[in-house]
Amino acid sequence: MISEKQRSAEAACEYVKDGMIVGLGTGSTAEFAVKKLGERVREGLSIRGVPTSDSTRELAESEGIPLIDFSETMYIDLTIDGADEIDAELNMIKGGGAALLREKIVASASREEIIIVSGAKLVAQLGAFPLPVEVIPFGWQIVFNQLESMQGNPELRLKQGQPQLTDQGNFIIDCHFRKIENAEQLEINLNMLPGVVESGLFIKLCTRMILADGEQIIIKNRPSS
Ligand code: A5P
Repeated sequence: MISEKQRSAEAACEYVKDGMIVGLGTGSTAEFAVKKLGERVREGLSIRGVPTSDSTRELAESEGIPLIDFSETMYIDLTIDGADEIDAELNMIKGGGAALLREKIVASASREEIIIVSGAKLVAQLGAFPLPVEVIPFGWQIVFNQLESMQGNPELRLKQGQPQLTDQGNFIIDCHFRKIENAEQLEINLNMLPGVVESGLFIKLCTRMILADGEQIIIKNRPSS
C-alpha cells in the first residue's frame, strides 16, 4: 500500500506537462514527486527542473532530470513542494528541512505552487510546528533576543552540537509561537528584523493543495484574489 505522502505526490505530478519548467521541492513528501518525475522523464517527458536545495539537486540529478537555475529562466511553470503545516487559507509553515529560503524564492517565481501533504499537516491554526527563521550567523544572538521578546520561545537549531547550517551557510532559529494569530503580520515583523534572511511563513504562495487522507485525495485551490 502506498503512503499518503506518495499518493499526494503522484497526484501532483499529473499536473506536470511536456515542456514545463518545474520547481522541485524538498523533504520526504517532495522526494516522492521528484522520483515520479524522474520515472516520467525516463519515459520521455521533457521538463527542466529548478531544485530548492542541494539534497533535491542531488536526487534530481540521480533521477536524470535536466536542471536549470535562475540564470536561465525568470519564471517557473509549476512547483511541487511539501509543508509542515497548512491552514484552510492555504497559508503554511515550511522549513522543517531547513530549505525555506530557496523554497520561498522558487515559490515566489512560480505560476503555480502545488503543496502536497498528508492529512496530519492540515491545521486549524498555524504555530504548533516550530516556525523556522533563517538568520545570518553574524549577530544571531541579537535576533534571538528579539524573537524572545516577541514571545517566539526561540531555539537555535543544532546538528551534532553545532548550529545547523543551511544551504546558504546561515543558521536556523526555531520559534515556538504555539498559536500564530496573524501570520501575515508576523511574517512582515520577522522580515523587518536586521539579520533575518527569511521566515518559514509562506503566505498566499500556495495555489493548490493536494492532501491525501487515507485512500482519498482532496484538492483545494486558492481562490484568486
Ligand atoms: C523543507 O525545508 C520543508 O519546507 C519541507 O517541505 C517540509 O518540512 C515538509 O517536509 P516533509 O515532506 O518531509 O514532511
